[in-house]
Amino acid sequence: MEQDSTGSIKEEAQPEQLKLRAGRAVVDAMVKSGMKLGLGTGSTAIHAVRRVGELFTQGVLQDISVFATSFQTEIECEKFGIPVYSLNSQRLSSGLDLTIDGADEVDPQNRLIKGGGGALLIEKLAAYASLSYAIVVDESKLVENLSLAFPVPVEVVPAARVQAAKALEKFGANVKLREAVRKAGPVITEHGNLVLDIRFCSPVDPVIMEAELNKIPGVVENGFFTGNPPVVYIARFNGAIDVRGVQLLHEGKK
Ligand code: 5RP
Repeated sequence: MEQDSTGSIKEEAQPEQLKLRAGRAVVDAMVKSGMKLGLGTGSTAIHAVRRVGELFTQGVLQDISVFATSFQTEIECEKFGIPVYSLNSQRLSSGLDLTIDGADEVDPQNRLIKGGGGALLIEKLAAYASLSYAIVVDESKLVENLSLAFPVPVEVVPAARVQAAKALEKFGANVKLREAVRKAGPVITEHGNLVLDIRFCSPVDPVIMEAELNKIPGVVENGFFTGNPPVVYIARFNGAIDVRGVQLLHEGKK
């Protein structure tokens, strides 16, 4: 809690409320009927998924087609009867109008680290197949430099676990195999791969790193997202929602 200038106590919004507010705000501002929509993964993005679900159920949003970035998202869409398609389907093969997702870190140029929930591979597919890209975060995710506090996930095929880790260390990164919770051994992604979480001790160029890490044999994808600058909806601790970046609004087309 903080005191305002009049001395009265102002309650700070709780983290879950911040996520809820940001998730609903981005949907209300950007999602239109007829859109081909990528929906992200995580505890913030799920509020956007639920808002889409609510508006779809009420008939406010019509004729939307969704690409879900994870089992979590797909299952949530199922609860609302939202039609989910493959990105290979005729319906979505021309790409997405808009993708909404969360992030682990956002730098001042709206470059991101994603993949805390292990869904980076398909999240990047959605992000880079979208005309518009929107990210929802609370203020705690804003950083000056990426990957000093939160590690960058690197998804590798199981056979590359040791060799890819050695190659990543050559970039000066500290490398850790992501361990599962309530399962013995490592996390296995939805694509049968492992995750190496890497942390740098001094700032790196995320654009260069995103390209370089993917050149390592056995690396499937990494969690730097720099290729499709998003508009970022930021839920501030004081309850305000700030919008940072260029908001590209596309009408949904059938
Ligand atoms: C999942 C992600 C998430 O969007 C990211 O980890 C943020 O999650 P949360 O909103 O739960 O903090 O990239 O792979």
